Amino acid sequence: MSDSDETVELGDLSDLADGEMRCFEDVGDYGIVVCRAAGTLHAVIDNCSHADTPLSEGRFRGHTITCPLHGAQFDVRDGSHAGPPAFEGVDVYPVSETDDGVVVTLTTSAGNRDGGYGEVGARFRTR
Ligand code: FES
Repeated sequence: MSDSDETVELGDLSDLADGEMRCFEDVGDYGIVVCRAAGTLHAVIDNCSHADTPLSEGRFRGHTITCPLHGAQFDVRDGSHAGPPAFEGVDVYPVSETDDGVVVTLTTSAGNRDGGYGEVGARFRTR
């Protein structure tokens, strides 16, 4: 964790079942989506890398979030994308879950965007 990393307490998420996701709109610049897959929590930026659409409005199956706008898919474990229309992945953040609740760390190194056409996405903001 670097000095500029921010930790955010999300509270008790023991009621979040496998296959469910929950949006925290006020965390980070775009909000985050916390989802549980195979018993493990994952945190992903709530913003599709293709055209800035909330991923929390999409579908979550297995370890994959599918964007509601054009169908780009992202693996919640590492933020990687499955291919077009996304040209790059999305940010993911470390999550810890204890009896005291869930904490997410907004790391400065969370970036999973590899440049290239990703910059184009900013021209097509949908929110
Ligand atoms: S905005 Fe997500 S796939 Fe286009």
